[in-house]
Amino acid sequence: MDIFTSKMDLQRHVQALKSVGKTIGFVPTMGFLHEGHLKLVERSVAENDITIMSIFVNPLQFGPNEDYDAYPRNPDKDQVLAKQAGVDVLFMPDSSDMYDQEHAFHIHVLQRTDRLCGKSRPGHFDGVVTILMKLFHIVGPNRVYFGLKDAQQISVVDSLINYFDFPIELVAVETVREQDGLARSSRNVYLTNLERKEAPYLYKALKMGEQQILQGERNVERITQMIHEYIEKNTSGKIDYIELLSFPELRSLSSIQGKVILAIAVQFTRARLIDNTILTVGN
Ligand code: PAJ
Repeated sequence: MDIFTSKMDLQRHVQALKSVGKTIGFVPTMGFLHEGHLKLVERSVAENDITIMSIFVNPLQFGPNEDYDAYPRNPDKDQVLAKQAGVDVLFMPDSSDMYDQEHAFHIHVLQRTDRLCGKSRPGHFDGVVTILMKLFHIVGPNRVYFGLKDAQQISVVDSLINYFDFPIELVAVETVREQDGLARSSRNVYLTNLERKEAPYLYKALKMGEQQILQGERNVERITQMIHEYIEKNTSGKIDYIELLSFPELRSLSSIQGKVILAIAVQFTRARLIDNTILTVGN
């Protein structure tokens, strides 16, 4: 596995690979790797000649009162895991290399961000899109791999790729979970012992909501209210949102039909957890 910290060196390396016809799969991450990240790598390795992973905790996507400084980091372990998983090229730039100029632009996302995490974390997706535009230009991948755990991020990346005509295929990968259903996340290490026991109720609640829809419930308010009560009863976390929307447009539903997302965010003492389920509902 080759490791690059300079974007210029990486760019030269990628150009050489592309000139001999290699296809490139790209997995952008913020590190502290877990099974979720590695699942994306597995898909990329299966579908491309070369898999490139980036590890960069992007300051631009964290709000002033968020956990940028406290975001968990373990670059040495990450290198071992990435190599074992089959990553060919690891890009680990530092902040001064990625943002080496004054901020001459502010990329602002106008659609798909007025709900869910976009609403609770103003400016978050502006930061995500800015770093991804830079990374997509530096890496020039054929395919990019994103996890459905961050479904709104997938929605926004889908729109980014289409709007700016990136010649890139977006591959959405199913959420990887612990045995008890908790979605894997770098932030899970910040749950207290009690919160860790409560956290699987997020997924249980989503499954319950899904079940209601499959059994014919068509009232959005009733479904989200039931989940609200269930989470309040079973966890000590503070509910940020519970929403049922169209996917990937993330619009309010006049009727529960077609592809829909049931999404939840709960703030625990130090960790804010998100999860979702996406389902297709017939007439
Ligand atoms: P990060 O949170 O490190 O996640 C990197 C990728 O791993 C994302 O596509 C995310 O959806 C995916 N992922 C995380 N947990 C997962 C799980 N349990 N199952 C499947 N996939 C999972 O998302 C980011 O970093 C950043 O916003 C980034 C895109 C790198 C831009 O800075």
